[in-house]
Amino acid sequence: MSEPERWVIAIDGPAGVGKSTISRKVAAHYGLTYLDTGAMYRAVAWYLKENDIDPDTENELAEALEQLSIELLPAVDETADVGVVLNGADISALIRTPEISMQASTVSARRPVRDKLTALQRRFGERGGVVAEGRDTGSVVFPTARFKFYLDATPEARARRRADQLRERGDAVDEEELLEMTRVRDKQDSERALAPLKIAEDAVLIDTTELDIDQVFKKIIETIAEKKN
Ligand code: DC
Repeated sequence: MSEPERWVIAIDGPAGVGKSTISRKVAAHYGLTYLDTGAMYRAVAWYLKENDIDPDTENELAEALEQLSIELLPAVDETADVGVVLNGADISALIRTPEISMQASTVSARRPVRDKLTALQRRFGERGGVVAEGRDTGSVVFPTARFKFYLDATPEARARRRADQLRERGDAVDEEELLEMTRVRDKQDSERALAPLKIAEDAVLIDTTELDIDQVFKKIIETIAEKKN
């Protein structure tokens, strides 16, 4: 299992901590596939909203999930988000809004949603060669992942980073509101009963509050180099 093409590297942490950017860089470094599990929860949230389905209505939710097919498209380059195709339609541009972030956090607490997406993610990673990013990839989806990392940072630092990202895309930004949303998502994601956001026992914790992307990347690469033998 010392060959990268067999590895699963799990990178978890709260919203806005830089997981996506770091995970893409790590995947590119080892020539692995990047698995953005949050994009799948976002896709489900978008679909339920678009079709006016209440995630609290069990039957409707089960029916909707049965009809749902989600496909991830490889990112066009190291800095781009992965694409998402839902029932044949490319919804990539529609799922990265603050509204869908909040709804993804809410629907991700529902058991049928977690069961479906966890199974999909395991299939994606069953042959290895994957950098999986999310909230529970090290604790639940891939408990035997070869390397596990948990990235953390203060809510203020994370809200600031999200604001910068949105500004870069040309979106309007309300920093106060972003901070509030970060706090609400932290609470929802870490207090839910199923697969809550938490540090897997064997994960390496990296506090990124005072670190830039390259410093975090370096720490991960160094840790893997140390641990792989
Ligand atoms: O990583 P993200 O911001 O794209 O994730 C959106 C939401 O999806 C997040 O608030 C919680 C949920 N999620 C989850 O419950 N488990 C994962 N492995 C990934 C995301």
